[in-house]
Amino acid sequence: MNIRLFAPYLGDEELNEIRDSFSKSWIGLGQKVSAFEKAFEKYIGCRKSVAVNSATAALHLALSVYRFKAGSKVLVPDITFASTAFAPVYNSLEPVFVDVYSHDVTMSVEDMEKKYSKDCVAVMPVHYGGQPAHMDRISEFAKNKNLKVIEDCAHTIGATYKDRKLGLWGDIGCYSFEEKKAMTTGDGGMICSDDDALINELSSKRWLGIDKESWKIANPDEENEYRHWYYDIDDLGFKYNMNDLSASIGLVQLKKLDSMNRKRSAIIRMYLDGLRGLKKIRPILPFEPEIFSYWLFGVRCAKRDDLIKFLKDSGIATGVHYVPLNMVNYFRKWNSACPIAERIWKEFVTLPLHVQLKDEEVYFVLKKLSEFEKNHL
Ligand SMILES: Cc1ncc(COP(=O)(O)O)c(C=O)c1O
Repeated sequence: MNIRLFAPYLGDEELNEIRDSFSKSWIGLGQKVSAFEKAFEKYIGCRKSVAVNSATAALHLALSVYRFKAGSKVLVPDITFASTAFAPVYNSLEPVFVDVYSHDVTMSVEDMEKKYSKDCVAVMPVHYGGQPAHMDRISEFAKNKNLKVIEDCAHTIGATYKDRKLGLWGDIGCYSFEEKKAMTTGDGGMICSDDDALINELSSKRWLGIDKESWKIANPDEENEYRHWYYDIDDLGFKYNMNDLSASIGLVQLKKLDSMNRKRSAIIRMYLDGLRGLKKIRPILPFEPEIFSYWLFGVRCAKRDDLIKFLKDSGIATGVHYVPLNMVNYFRKWNSACPIAERIWKEFVTLPLHVQLKDEEVYFVLKKLSEFEKNHL
C-alpha cells in the first residue's frame, strides 16, 4: 500500500480549459480570471470577489486595506497555518495568539475576550479542517469592540454555519485553492466581500496598485482608444494576481466542488463508523460531515509519534496540523499562554482524505488503527 495524504482531483476538463487559454495565447491576468471571480461570487453568494495567487496573499491584502496603525494587534488562533499569523506581521501589526477549544480546535471565544486589549483592531477566525469557528459569538464580540473580522476559509469552501455561508460572516472572507485544498487552481486564493469599494481597492492592490488591468488595456473602449497605454498608481500594490491558467483550472474545479465535498464527507463517514469500535483513538474533531465540508480528517492518540511511525511502515501517509504557532520559533516573540493548544496538538494525527481515496484504502487505514490500538495502547 502507498496511500497519499492529500491529492488534487484533476481531469481532461481542466486540461481542455487550459488548452483554450493556450489557443487564445492569453495565460496571464485576463478574462478567465474575471469569469472565475464571477462564478465564485455566484457560488458563495457574495457581492464581489478578487482572485489572487494564494490565500496567504489574500489574507495579507485583506488586512492591508484597513490601514491599521503599525503595532496594532490582531487576534489569531494558536492552531492554524503560519499564513494566518503572517498576515498581521506583513502589515506591521502584531499577532495575539488565542487558545482553541479542546473539542473542536477552533478559536476559544472566552480566551479571545480575555486576550483582547484596546490595541486590537481585527480578529482572524479559522475554520480548522472545515470545523466552523463560533462565528456568531465572534462576530458579536467584534461588533461590540469595533474589530474587523477577516475569515480564514482556507480549509472549507461552500459550507453553511447557522444559515450563513462560511466566508460571509466576516468583513472579508479568504479562500485557498492551493494544491491540496477543497478545490485547486495549482496555487491560488479568493477574497470575498459585500463591500464594493473594498473589493475595487483590493482588485487594484493585487495588480501593483494599477488602476486598470492589462487585458482591459489590450482591449480599450472607444473613448480611450489612443490612451490604452495610460495608467496611474495611487496606492502601494503587490504582484498577487491570479493568472488565466490557474483560473482555467478553477472554473472547472468550482463546478466539481459540491461533488468533491460530498465525496470527502462520505469518506469521513466511513472513518467515523470504523472508529466507533475504538476507545483510545478518537476523531480529532466533532465531525458532522453531512452538515459541514471538511478538508482534513484526523485522530487523536496519546502515542502520536508511535502511531505515525506504525502507519508510515504500513504505507499510509500522515501529517500533523499544526504545531501551535506560539511554539514556532519565529512567532515566539508574540508568545501568549495557550495551554489547551499546547496540550492537544501532541495527540494530533492527520489521516488520508482526498477525492481519489478508495474504499479499500479507508478500510486498510481503519484496520491498521485498530491493530495499533490492540497492540500498542
Ligand atoms: C488556515 C490556512 N490559512 C491560510 C493558508 C494559506 O493558503 P495558501 O497556501 O493558498 O497561501 C493555509 C494553507 O494551508 C491554511 O491552512
